[in-house]
Amino acid sequence: MKNILKITTITMLLLAAMGTASVANENTSNIENGAQLWADTCMRCHNLRTPSSLSKSKWPISMKHMRVRAGLTGQEARDILAFILASKKTKDTK
Ligand code: HEC
Repeated sequence: MKNILKITTITMLLLAAMGTASVANENTSNIENGAQLWADTCMRCHNLRTPSSLSKSKWPISMKHMRVRAGLTGQEARDILAFILASKKTKDTK
């Protein structure tokens, strides 16, 4: 009986934590900040890569590499990615 209570409590805590995390993620990427960071950061080493230069599925992978190269925080990388994906035209949504 005690065990069932424990498991129920732990499960509920986990679900609550997951709920909060996903809500936080949705609300925290800031597209305007991402646009600014993209313009300021992404041309330090090479020409600006426009949102259409990679597919929607390739951008998150490339951003992981560029996050490391550019020394961005997770938040900055999420903001830039949010800006890039939001700027893609419907034609190149691959
Ligand atoms: C510290 C230097 C540096 C910074 C800052 C940087 N990059 Fe790069 N990036 C590179 C290098 C080096 C390559 C590989 C050689 C090349 O393609 O010019 C590269 C390649 C790329 C590519 C080609 C595909 C790939 O993944 O290899 C894309 C797209 C890209 N960068 C996007 C970005 C974006 C977006 C930013 C801003 C968040 C950024 N880069 C910031 C150094 C940098």
